[in-house]
Amino acid sequence: RTVYVNGDYLPETEAKVSIFDRGFLMADGVYEVTSVLGGKLIDFAGHAKRLERSLGELDMAAPVTSEELLEIHRQLVEKNGITDGLVYLQITRGAPEDRDFAFPDPATTPSTIVLFTQNKPGLADSPAAKVGMKVISIPDVRWHRRDIKTVQLLYPSMGKMMAKKAGCDDAWMIEDGFVTEGTSNNAYIVKGGKIITRELSTDILHGITRAAVLRFAAEAQMEVEERNFTIEEAMQADEAFITSASAFVMPVVEIDGASLGDGKPGPVAARLREIYLEESL
Ligand code: PDD
Repeated sequence: RTVYVNGDYLPETEAKVSIFDRGFLMADGVYEVTSVLGGKLIDFAGHAKRLERSLGELDMAAPVTSEELLEIHRQLVEKNGITDGLVYLQITRGAPEDRDFAFPDPATTPSTIVLFTQNKPGLADSPAAKVGMKVISIPDVRWHRRDIKTVQLLYPSMGKMMAKKAGCDDAWMIEDGFVTEGTSNNAYIVKGGKIITRELSTDILHGITRAAVLRFAAEAQMEVEERNFTIEEAMQADEAFITSASAFVMPVVEIDGASLGDGKPGPVAARLREIYLEESL
């Protein structure tokens, strides 16, 4: 695989990042995941814009412009022959001479930028979309700036493992009694045809797929309500689903052991998935 590191395209075995890199030592970095379908980058502009915002919120310099970033994405997709898959991008505050909590001077410590692709043939035809996901609920103990897409992913990884141990696919996180989001996706329920999802704030990541799906839902005259919901309300819902750049729209059929509706993926999630993939291709 050819990867990109600080200006160079290299075989992955030759790519190097310092052990003093603050991404490695302190999770001081941000990332984006953009999907590729039929060789086309999905919603690149949205991801580039969110990246800019994440960097700004952390007072981190952007090492490349959005135009350069697009070109790097395109080059990697081409060099690695990706038809369906993902492009992962990470920017960290770079590698100072020593470990230090204070941010290094960006004039002497340039940020680190790394990109790589993941080949996922048939990404849009995932069999999971026909079966649906099972989720458990866990407390949300993450920090309170979840709107910044940082690489601090230990708790979401632990949540994923808790779900696996319970024989499930993912975990929905709960704070003050309300669902925030999934470990790596935004959460939705459907009741009486109405799509309900938490409003945007610093409590959740502002999903690029979320923005697109809500726009398509409105265009299709589907009713959308952005508000908090509890796990109890979710368990009583007609259907549920999640969205993310890598899963698109994925139905949820079970929450904490309780089947939703008839235990099969619901029609609203199926329709939104269809519209999203159609519009994206
Ligand atoms: N995760 N919420 C969280 C906590 C996420 O990590 C993600 C994305 C989302 C959905 O955002 P988007 O629609 O922009 O992908 C919501 C990516 C895919 C990941 O970590 O792999």
